[in-house]
Amino acid sequence: MRLRRPVIAGNWKMHHGPTATREFFEAFLAAVPEREERSVLVFPPAPSMAAAAATVSGRSDVLIGAQHVHWEEHGAFTGEISTSIAADSGARAALVGHSERRQLFGETDAETGRKVRSCLSAGLVPVLCVGETLDEREAGAASSIVRRQLEAALGSLRPDELANVLIAYEPVWAIGTGRTASPADAADMHGDIRAFLVDHVGQTIAMGMPILYGGSVKPGNAADLLAASDVDGVLVGGASLDPANFAAICSAAG
Ligand code: PGA
Repeated sequence: MRLRRPVIAGNWKMHHGPTATREFFEAFLAAVPEREERSVLVFPPAPSMAAAAATVSGRSDVLIGAQHVHWEEHGAFTGEISTSIAADSGARAALVGHSERRQLFGETDAETGRKVRSCLSAGLVPVLCVGETLDEREAGAASSIVRRQLEAALGSLRPDELANVLIAYEPVWAIGTGRTASPADAADMHGDIRAFLVDHVGQTIAMGMPILYGGSVKPGNAADLLAASDVDGVLVGGASLDPANFAAICSAAG
């Protein structure tokens, strides 16, 4: 028996409006039997969240999340959505610190910390994305970069708060490039992340927390990545857009 329940997550980025979302879930739910042993999390664009949540409402193993949230509860922040608005739209989780938000939209380490706190107070599971660029990896700085991102976003949480966070390791050079970290490289970094968790929440809780890998996960490599030590789930971009591909990745989790 696996120690940690696998989490298969799909980040649709800027794809699939409400109509395409309903079509996706009709095909996906028909292809993927309900299973308590793993969780499926899908992050559609914000205007598709309510349609997604309504379509999956009969399935306890499939949850919807927000790709992006603001940390303030409400206010004059044109274009933003708060964690409570996301929750009211059917979200149960939210991505925080995705590398596209960091690189293209200037999301800072300090902001990831505020967003994580706001998610926790709204009852959303924050899915904190961390990962190094190719330059940082080649300079031998991958571990220290990831450590800095973890400390900035999570370092001040109480252990009972941190226990509700999911962490996804997504090396920036593997996202949308077709290049994946080898299972051994993923296992190394996941081991470092587990060590961070042990330091902050203690051995028993840390050993129960799933850590996800993301970056060019496909039906053909998902099983090998999921078999790597400390890799307990995957965060899938491109391959989560097609119901058959995403269903195949879910079956790789057992
Ligand atoms: P990809 O994206 O699977 O298309 O590489 C992963 C992600 O950005 O979460």
